[in-house]
Amino acid sequence: MAAQTQALQPAISNAINTVLQRGDFILGADVANFEREFADYCGVRDAVGTDSGLSALELALRAAGIGPGDEVITQANTFIATVGAILAVGATPVLVDCDANGVIVPEQVAAAITPRTKIIMPVHLFGWICDMDAINAIAKKAGVVVIEDACQAHGAVWKGRRAGSFGISAAFSFYPAKNLGAYGDAGMLVTQSSEVADRVRTLRNYGSRAKYEHIDLPLNRRLDTLQAAVLRVKLPHLDTWNARRQFLADAYREHLADLPVGLPPPAESGRHIYHLFVITAEDRDALRTDLNEQGIETGIHYPIPVHRQPVMKAMFPSPSAGGEDRSLFPQAEHLAAHSLSLPMYPELPLEHLERVADAIRRHYEGPHPNPPPRAGEGKAG
Ligand SMILES: Cc1ncc(COP(=O)(O)O)c(C=O)c1O
Repeated sequence: MAAQTQALQPAISNAINTVLQRGDFILGADVANFEREFADYCGVRDAVGTDSGLSALELALRAAGIGPGDEVITQANTFIATVGAILAVGATPVLVDCDANGVIVPEQVAAAITPRTKIIMPVHLFGWICDMDAINAIAKKAGVVVIEDACQAHGAVWKGRRAGSFGISAAFSFYPAKNLGAYGDAGMLVTQSSEVADRVRTLRNYGSRAKYEHIDLPLNRRLDTLQAAVLRVKLPHLDTWNARRQFLADAYREHLADLPVGLPPPAESGRHIYHLFVITAEDRDALRTDLNEQGIETGIHYPIPVHRQPVMKAMFPSPSAGGEDRSLFPQAEHLAAHSLSLPMYPELPLEHLERVADAIRRHYEGPHPNPPPRAGEGKAG
């Protein structure tokens, strides 16, 4: 992140200084401008800045009128915020399993529909757009609405459309490590509906349209002007950064193709913007320790699936006292036990990626039998 900030100077400092001089810290000019620019970028009608991706998801549900007694279908392998938003409005999360790549399985969504289903909330996990044709067809047939969790999919394109443009609304997170990241917490709801946009504008700002007149639930979920100013500087670079991630993903695939690890398949053009590059390995924990000892940091997304989180105990009680049910969502469980996220960010030098790949190769094949001579070695005299 420091390298990216450095590369964007002096534009970043200028943008921040302009806000400091103007003093419009709350819902200032940069918020409205960034909303317009991000809506255009996603190819949607409107966008409303929020203080986080979680808030964008929650307000999307509130704007759709979701509350107690309603069911929202989403996937068991996601960041807790997806389900947190559903719980926050008092609705019931209905979890379904994913495929080997972590993507929601449309057939399982169809099977989970009940008369109480109101929303399908697919997650474009790791930057990979779900099969939105299938999801939208299921939603249409059931008479329910789709809200995309696009918090990891800024700029991903599928069939000529960007993430965020497939449902009635979608949520983005600008958490600093995202493909488009702020310098703190920030988020955005994008929507095709001016009604949804109006309601979320009201909800995020103490339920008010006119000052000191509160017509709706008084929440404070506004996007900071300073963050919007930073994000406006970054947005024009997003496609270039995503293309670099795709290049790095191809490089990983080339280097690791013959090793006993599972790799994300090459995506159709633009579909995957590799927020994370997630491999699978039977001996994931040993591989991770080995890499860590060589100074290579990796992640696990996510080590505990949603249904086994302590906060979900009431909804998913253990089948036997003290035990945990690992049979409910086998693919989510498999990923939790075997997935490993390798270093992935646009500024990652190719040589560093090759060092990571070499370290993985050594883990499986042992040290190279004929190591190349080191500088100064093998010279006569
Ligand atoms: C899939 C998913 N949903 C929701 C969120 C919530 O976003 P935020 O951290 O901005 O609240 C995140 C962010 O980490 C995410 O990855």
